Amino acid sequence: MNPQRSLIELDRIERIYPGSPPVEALRPATLAISSGDYVAVVGPSGSGKSTLLNVLGLLDVPTSGRYWLDGFDTGRLAPRQRAALRGSRIGFVFQAFHLMDHRSVLENVALTGTYSHLSRSRRHAAARDAIDRVGLTHRVDFLPSRLSGGERQRVAIARALAGSPKVLLCDEPTGNLDSHRAAEIIDLFEAMHADGLAVVVVTHDEGLAARAHRRLHVHDGEVTVSDDATHPRDDGAPTGRRAPEVIRP
Ligand SMILES: Nc1ncnc2c1ncn2[C@@H]1O[C@H](COP(=O)(O)OP(=O)(O)O)[C@@H](O)[C@H]1O
Ligand SMILES: [Mg+2]
Repeated sequence: MNPQRSLIELDRIERIYPGSPPVEALRPATLAISSGDYVAVVGPSGSGKSTLLNVLGLLDVPTSGRYWLDGFDTGRLAPRQRAALRGSRIGFVFQAFHLMDHRSVLENVALTGTYSHLSRSRRHAAARDAIDRVGLTHRVDFLPSRLSGGERQRVAIARALAGSPKVLLCDEPTGNLDSHRAAEIIDLFEAMHADGLAVVVVTHDEGLAARAHRRLHVHDGEVTVSDDATHPRDDGAPTGRRAPEVIRP
């Protein structure tokens, strides 16, 4: 396997939660996700979808196997390097939006760790850009309590975009939304994907899953892949959005 070929390469990645008995939440999985991919992760509750996403997002460490992210062998990184790689490559979107209630939309986006090396004015300019991208320019001074669910999720997406990630990892992002708001969020993911971002989305929403170009099925910790032949895969060619190869401290 050539570790440089795809944005994400897993080689027999396994996650066992210790206990008696231990839970094999992710059975050895070998797969690749490219920079142009739009992937839905589907499967019953408890099958291991979030476990897979957390491993991909460097929030969790696999029990065994190797994981290359953007060419970096993640198992060989020190915790600081892992955190830096996560901050510069990964954007997360969760079902519960996890916004700070007493901070404005602008501050929720500007106060992400990925901006911590910037001055306040640059942080705010970068945050405004991300807020523009999700169509919330007119809500920039609002508190989350004054926003609809769909708008809150868009703030969370703006926050995820803050570090100019290469991949958005989304765990049931429309689970708390009505179908109309969910459709808006799906449209937004497609716009981000068209902009050159890889998108991996865990979902029970058939509409969302059907619009992705690849599907990962997870059953009892086992991952299988099915591809949509009408959407040929991008094989990891540069997208024009490539970040420098250095890992920022
Ligand atoms: N921290 C944990 N400790 C022990 N078992 C866990 C932990 N997190 C998840 N599990 C178990 O791992 C399996 C997969 O969970 P999860 O990845 O959350 O599934 P899904 O997201 O598909 O609902 C389940 O059996 C779950 O109970
Ligand atoms: Mg889950």
